[in-house]
Amino acid sequence: MSTKVALVTGASSGIGAAAARKLHSLGYTVYGAARRVERMAELADNGVHVLSMDVTDAASMAAGIETVIAESGRIDVLVNNAGYGAHGAVEDVPMAQARAQFEVNVFGAAALTQLVLPHMRAQRSGTIINISSIGGKIYLPLGGWYHSTKYALEGLSDCLRVETRPFGINVVVIEPGSIRTEWGAIAAENLRGSSAGSAYSHQADAIAKQLARSSEPGTRLASDPSVIADTIARAVSARRPKTRYAVGAGAKPAILLRKVLSDRAFDAVLRLGINAASR
Ligand SMILES: NC(=O)c1ccc[n+]([C@@H]2O[C@H](COP(=O)([O-])OP(=O)(O)OC[C@H]3O[C@@H](n4cnc5c(N)ncnc54)[C@H](OP(=O)(O)O)[C@@H]3O)[C@@H](O)[C@H]2O)c1
Repeated sequence: MSTKVALVTGASSGIGAAAARKLHSLGYTVYGAARRVERMAELADNGVHVLSMDVTDAASMAAGIETVIAESGRIDVLVNNAGYGAHGAVEDVPMAQARAQFEVNVFGAAALTQLVLPHMRAQRSGTIINISSIGGKIYLPLGGWYHSTKYALEGLSDCLRVETRPFGINVVVIEPGSIRTEWGAIAAENLRGSSAGSAYSHQADAIAKQLARSSEPGTRLASDPSVIADTIARAVSARRPKTRYAVGAGAKPAILLRKVLSDRAFDAVLRLGINAASR
């Protein structure tokens, strides 16, 4: 059989870059996609094909898939990883920014899924990996728009998994815990941009500090992105992958806590955390 082909979105940074490297090391023909093509130069030097793609732009996604099929003739793995946190109080985040958050984290992933499915159905095989978050299972205040995209991705993935199973296609959700990438710094910056100086500024300060910590080089509060890349490798190599993998710092305890505590009890734990962080 010809080499297996994978497309990874958000390959210009963090988890996507690590995933592209890992799949390439496993022998896949890998396409890395992002807007900042210059940030993928090292991947390109190492044999990853680089695509300029904005997951909010239908034409750029269609062109990307056309390139993959024209050059490689198939697509075996789609990793929907591109994403960011449009943090801020639900009241403060302008609706245009809330919609943009859904465009990237949900509709971008969904549109790419629609584009690859005809090819995967024709092959009668394929794996779609959606990078959700523990934030698709638990919530933090001032992350309402982000969490609602990840909750949406979880539901979309469940329906998709059942729909596509008759065609031999696997759908896998990965729920990273805290991972050392640019994500935390970007979410903190967005949070400050939306809610610093608003009625929510006290919570905003504390939460922005916590978010930014996961991006600090060498922090032990967050895992290396290779932890997620290794999980992706495990999922694509398994004959029958798990439907969900919760991995990385804090992922399993956070999800367990959410499962066993009532909503009110979980709210109280969050409030304790915010109060401690704002001291
Ligand atoms: N880091 C964490 O703690 C953590 C935890 C749970 C889940 N996650 C999820 O993991 C995924 C990857 O995040 P990361 O931690 O690796 O963050 P990151 O280092 O900030 O990388 C985000 C990637 O998404 C891409 N992206 C953003 N907007 C895009 C758009 N409109 N079109 C195409 N690409 C776009 C960025 O590329 P360009 O800007 O170059 O386009 C970048 O490559 C996200 O879905 C995130 O929600 C992260």
